[in-house]
Amino acid sequence: MSVTNKKSFSNMLLSHVELYVKDIVSMENFYTKYLGFIVTDRGEGPSAMVFLSRSPEEHHQIVLNPRQTHQTIQSPVDHISFRVKSITDLQGFNNALKTNAKIEIQTVSHGTTWSLYFRDPEENRFEIFTDTPWYVNQPCKFPVDLEQSDEDLIQFTNNKIENMPGFAVVADWKDSHKNSLAF
Ligand SMILES: [Fe+2]
Repeated sequence: MSVTNKKSFSNMLLSHVELYVKDIVSMENFYTKYLGFIVTDRGEGPSAMVFLSRSPEEHHQIVLNPRQTHQTIQSPVDHISFRVKSITDLQGFNNALKTNAKIEIQTVSHGTTWSLYFRDPEENRFEIFTDTPWYVNQPCKFPVDLEQSDEDLIQFTNNKIENMPGFAVVADWKDSHKNSLAF
């Protein structure tokens, strides 16, 4: 097989999927009662998202999203998410995607991540992210500029989230998360 694509791409690992749901109560009940997922965070109000995990390494593996106005007949999936290991890797994918003029890219932070969101040619929505060193209560989302230096991006994000509810060093959050999964 001849190799025509000379770009080098970093590895990514599947992290989580976000689903549009019709009945958030029964969906949360199903995943917690029959599969042992725990609720790690939930939003506020009638369209509140619920974050579920069954992994000590993941804040969420499934997100239940009851925003029915966004639901399409084609797909119950809001997005599928992959993790890369560094800001440099994330910037690599951002740069590669930007060469495709048809793709609109959203660059955001969830406080816990720096993320790219985009749609593939068949409108499936994808997230690629790398972890920040912090945890904050979810949901949390604000735009970031991935073109700035790593130092500026880290400082900007830290300033933005350090007074938000739940702010912690991620290692501390993981310790308490592991304890929650043990019960
Ligand atoms: Fe996500």
